[in-house]
Amino acid sequence: MAATSLSSVFNLPNGSSFPNRVAKAAMEESLCAPDHGPSDRLINLYKRWSEGKPGLLITGNIMVDRKALTGPNNVIVEDDRHIEGLKAWANAGTIGGNQLWAQISHPGRQVFANMDDEPVAPSAVGVNIPGARGMFAIPRELSSDEINDLIERFGKTASILDKAGFDGVQIHGAHGYLISQFLSPITNQRTDEWGGSIENRARFLMEIIKSVKDATGDKFSIGLKLNSADFQRGGFTEEDAETVIKMLNVEKLDLLEISGGTYEAPAMSGKTPTSESTLAREAYFLEFATKIKAITTIPIMVTGGFRSKGIMDEALETGALDIIGMGKPFACDPNVAQKLVENQIDKVRTKDIKMSKPAFESVSEMAWAKSQIQRISAGKNPDPIWPPLWNMIGSQITQRRDAKKYKEWLKTAI
Ligand SMILES: Cc1cc2nc3c(=O)[nH]c(=O)nc-3n(C[C@H](O)[C@H](O)[C@H](O)COP(=O)(O)O)c2cc1C
Repeated sequence: MAATSLSSVFNLPNGSSFPNRVAKAAMEESLCAPDHGPSDRLINLYKRWSEGKPGLLITGNIMVDRKALTGPNNVIVEDDRHIEGLKAWANAGTIGGNQLWAQISHPGRQVFANMDDEPVAPSAVGVNIPGARGMFAIPRELSSDEINDLIERFGKTASILDKAGFDGVQIHGAHGYLISQFLSPITNQRTDEWGGSIENRARFLMEIIKSVKDATGDKFSIGLKLNSADFQRGGFTEEDAETVIKMLNVEKLDLLEISGGTYEAPAMSGKTPTSESTLAREAYFLEFATKIKAITTIPIMVTGGFRSKGIMDEALETGALDIIGMGKPFACDPNVAQKLVENQIDKVRTKDIKMSKPAFESVSEMAWAKSQIQRISAGKNPDPIWPPLWNMIGSQITQRRDAKKYKEWLKTAI
């Protein structure tokens, strides 16, 4: 049997397939239309990315609740009012033969106070980032009824995306957003059936998976993005993640993407040591992926730090994972998947930015990547010498302006 390589077809448990092993991980595009449906620029962006021949494209955060956005320009899918735009997005984003999945999300407490001054979370524990005091409000604890409503919302959003022609969804259970807040004992201090033991903390996630399954067809792919750990003392640990992954085995997911970290400890961008031995390595979560291969049959995608083809090839050959996920390299080059699969490059391009604090480094690299994504959406090429400082200042100003607009929209939206 030939060894698995980047060009190998991947067959999912639900019988569908990806043409190769390279996936674009979710990256928030901030390109919704004024009514929070998909804009023409967002649709153009996915056409461009799909033409670059990836195996899988995963959209950035799509929100299940208009009151809870990760950014002021998120697409919101609560009902089928945007179905025509969503269909156009699904068509454009699969033109190159890849699958297109929508990432469905709720930020919980990780929302800037200028967008929401009363966010909800499992418990009333605020975000604590040194130097960012006042940027996040203390959240309000969710009631049981609200928890059940949110579980239904994930299912409803997935059913609309299925109807629109998306190939699947990825449930965002990582990076310190709401599901991840339920999983962590730091942010989940509940004493009811939603808190306490890891089985209780995972209940919200398990119920969301069931809700999404019940609401969508058999051929619709369902994936999950999960932290290997939060990298915070007293938080969600690798042992917790292993317990959750064993619980997931009965749910027959199509893909489990491993990432890590939160806004407070941004391990997803390599800014927090994952372990002494992996710090120097480029794929931060590979070691953990290798461990969990032994306890799960769910296919594994790993995202975070992949930059050289040699390491990607090795990871696939050793069977540590099934799919190579990348974020920022797709912002720097929309053709990166094709170039890797066809052996045209050995290394992918990204931009490393050095700042005083890891959380700020991570935010500024993300802002830089987002500006490149927005160039691609406007039909331009990425600009490798785009100055990060201008970009940081620009993104702060735009966020404030757009947060204000969003709050106005929220007051009048029906
Ligand atoms: C601009 C930008 C936006 C992102 N938005 C999301 C998102 O919406 N959902 C998500 O799960 N991860 C998001 N991420 C994280 C990426 O999916 C990925 O985990 C991270 O960039 C590490 O991979 P990389 O080293 O290949 O960039 C974002 C990253 C960037 C750069």
